[in-house]
Amino acid sequence: MNLGTDFLTLKLKNPIIAGASPLSSTLDGIKRLEDAGAAAVIAHSLFEEQINHEQRQIDHFIHITAESHAEAISYFQAENRFDNFSAERYLREIEEAKAALSIPLIGSLNGVSAGGWVQYAKAIEAAGADALELNITYIPTSMHLSGAEVEQMYVQTVASVREYLNIPLNIKMNAYFSSPAHMARRFVELGIAGVTIFDNPTRVDIDLELLTALRMPNITTSQSLSETLRWCAILYRQLPCTICAGTGVHTHEDLLKALMSGANTAALASVLLRHGAEHIGVILQGLEAWMEAHEYESVRQMIGSISLAHTDNPAAFERNSYMYALQHYRS
Ligand SMILES: Cc1cc2nc3c(=O)[nH]c(=O)nc-3n(C[C@H](O)[C@H](O)[C@H](O)COP(=O)(O)O)c2cc1C
Repeated sequence: MNLGTDFLTLKLKNPIIAGASPLSSTLDGIKRLEDAGAAAVIAHSLFEEQINHEQRQIDHFIHITAESHAEAISYFQAENRFDNFSAERYLREIEEAKAALSIPLIGSLNGVSAGGWVQYAKAIEAAGADALELNITYIPTSMHLSGAEVEQMYVQTVASVREYLNIPLNIKMNAYFSSPAHMARRFVELGIAGVTIFDNPTRVDIDLELLTALRMPNITTSQSLSETLRWCAILYRQLPCTICAGTGVHTHEDLLKALMSGANTAALASVLLRHGAEHIGVILQGLEAWMEAHEYESVRQMIGSISLAHTDNPAAFERNSYMYALQHYRS
């Protein structure tokens, strides 16, 4: 049985990628994910804000050393303000992880503007990453910023990152565009090699005891798979790039559905945070058992088998299904 599939320009031994999460933020964690059977690992993200913060600290340090006397410098160093070289540490982590792994390692940059931070894409490549994932999650809160302007901002950021890279680039999209398919096409035109459908931003809540707003990571369930399936099915065959199912894959059944709807791979986070990296083995066993029972010989054979690629008018199909589902509800 052949579980092999494609992610960007890489050949993977199976469709399970360990997505960016705290599990991929340490060398031990990354090794555990590989040992558990992950076909590739996406490192936790380096954020634009971390890079910019560091740059400001360095600028400040250079300014102080150039213009101050020795006492001022030693005072400044004694404050220990340079402990947190997160960007440099991130590059070291990528280097170490790459040396320790035999599966592909994907770096992850997370930012929204087209500023100097995008040069870190090159640094992550130089540190040894096999590919880069770019997560651009921006919540536009201004009533003066049009959808077209937000889209242009995304396009500019992707174009700037692309400019620095020779390794393949994956865009982790979000579902907030008026036309996700059009945005995916624009990204592909910029030379990206794959999209992840979708990012799952933080959850908003209010703590009624502390009377404060909360932003928490969104730990998903299989219920969150629906939009992933919808958009993988819509984009399959429309995009000349790979599709990674990015949200809500928790079981081998979820994985099968994602593949059949058109995903080449699935990136898992919540299920592994909940049950541990070793759960990858459980999902892979379930996948193989199902494929054997249903006489599938390869994963590639089932990709897109239940997508909208064979539908003449996918928009009309979606609209009809929507109407039918609402009109035929029985409690
Ligand atoms: C605790 C936590 C930390 C995460 N950290 C990152 C991150 O650093 N970068 C990123 O792009 N996504 C991050 N994510 C998002 C996941 O990679 C993934 O896209 C999302 O959780 C949806 O997949 P899931 O349904 O398997 O959880 C994080 C998710 C969680 C729950």
